[in-house]
Amino acid sequence: MKCRSQLNIPMHEFAPGLLYFPDFYSRVEQETLANELREAVKAAPLFVPLMPRTGKPFSVRMTNFGVLGWVSDRERGYRYEATHPYTGHSWPAIPDLVLRAWRDTGGYPHEPEACLLNFYDVTARMGLHQDRDEAALDVPVVSISLGDSCLFRIGGDTRGGKTRSFKLHSGDVLVIGGASRLAFHGVDKIFPATSTLLPNGGRINLTMRRVNKAG
Ligand code: SIN
Ligand code: FE2
Repeated sequence: MKCRSQLNIPMHEFAPGLLYFPDFYSRVEQETLANELREAVKAAPLFVPLMPRTGKPFSVRMTNFGVLGWVSDRERGYRYEATHPYTGHSWPAIPDLVLRAWRDTGGYPHEPEACLLNFYDVTARMGLHQDRDEAALDVPVVSISLGDSCLFRIGGDTRGGKTRSFKLHSGDVLVIGGASRLAFHGVDKIFPATSTLLPNGGRINLTMRRVNKAG
């Protein structure tokens, strides 16, 4: 176990730039987060994104917070947009408690522009992919897990390379930055009923990203 000297938060460096902060959020904070997210999702409802070209639906449902949100559809593919694809409204602000993880772990002096919320029911998964729709590829992605645990997989910068997997639990924060920023990653499975945070089960993942270079 290493500690980040300034804030003294327990942290493991799994690989260069891949930082794991177990139990970053206490149970009470997770409950506050879940309530805040429930409210924000009323304004920006979850939607099912479609894969570019094939139009195949993702198994996760998504929404976003912040000035930009990540969306995908058949015709126009992966991109960031300032408005929700169905309501046409701006995305809600990123809740302050969510931003705390970015400020305390990301080591980047500017705020994220985007916070993608992925909701996994117990059958959902996320195939291996790189996060590379951002111009600011030098800035880490900061990921928060809430609800049921998952099996997270991460490899190197090439598809088909060696990967490792580990569990992410409710309240954990993972930073994907530095030499790991373009690592292929995904979610193999959700472990049902491993958390009591979300009354109907499932997992919420929040990923904060800087899209454009600051300044
Ligand atoms: C993602 O890569 O967008 C999601 C990762 C996760 O759910 O932990
Ligand atoms: Fe990702």
